[in-house]
Amino acid sequence: MNVVELLNKRRAVRAYSDKDVPKELIREIFAQAQQSASNCNTQPWHVSIISGDTKNQLATDLVAEVSSGKAPSPTFQPGDYGLADEYKVRQVDCAVALYKAVGVERGDKPARMELMLKNWQFFGAPHVAIFSMPKAMKEVNAVDVGIYLQAIMLLMVENGLASCPQGALAFYPDPILEVAQIPEENGILFGLSFGYEDQEAQINTAKTDRAALDDIAVFVG
Ligand SMILES: Cc1cc2nc3c(=O)[nH]c(=O)nc-3n(C[C@H](O)[C@H](O)[C@H](O)COP(=O)(O)O)c2cc1C
Repeated sequence: MNVVELLNKRRAVRAYSDKDVPKELIREIFAQAQQSASNCNTQPWHVSIISGDTKNQLATDLVAEVSSGKAPSPTFQPGDYGLADEYKVRQVDCAVALYKAVGVERGDKPARMELMLKNWQFFGAPHVAIFSMPKAMKEVNAVDVGIYLQAIMLLMVENGLASCPQGALAFYPDPILEVAQIPEENGILFGLSFGYEDQEAQINTAKTDRAALDDIAVFVG
């Protein structure tokens, strides 16, 4: 697949088969993504890949933490903070596409909560990668981690894998920090659940669209 094909094929996948991804393939993908560009080649990303029983126990602990009513405590400002105008519209459209795919009414709060909780169950994926960078760093450094994330997601598609990037995995850091061996000076930016797509799952039929080029670009001169 060329880059255009990879870009078009990648989507956020939210249901997986329970088949593990071979360890060597995971290592190969993350090794290749090391080629990503970054400001002054600082490579500010750290990634912790969690699988097996540790991943299952972490899902249990995260669901308990989220359900306890505790307030979220992300290190960095979440991506949905203070959204307005077209950004708010797009956020709502994205949620509605997901509800529609699984037949959840927008007014059905318990069903929406159940759907939301799947974030902390890693959508049933056999693996989750937790991305962090030093807490002292800011937006421009986070751009580097985003570039790295995109490389990983496209490499996964190239290798027959699916993934879902998740800002939600930054909201309740404590259970993750207990097991993920993240450097002490780092904060969690997002997670990426990954594995083999469950081809039958309704949730994976959710489709998002994109703004037209002329809504986001100007060509000057
Ligand atoms: C940084 C980042 C954080 C995201 N956080 C979540 C999340 O917490 N939960 C979720 O279900 N999807 C999350 N997504 C997936 C987006 O909703 C999805 O990429 C977007 O709707 C476009 O759809 P597509 O990826 O299928 O093309 C996130 C995506 C990115 C890039």
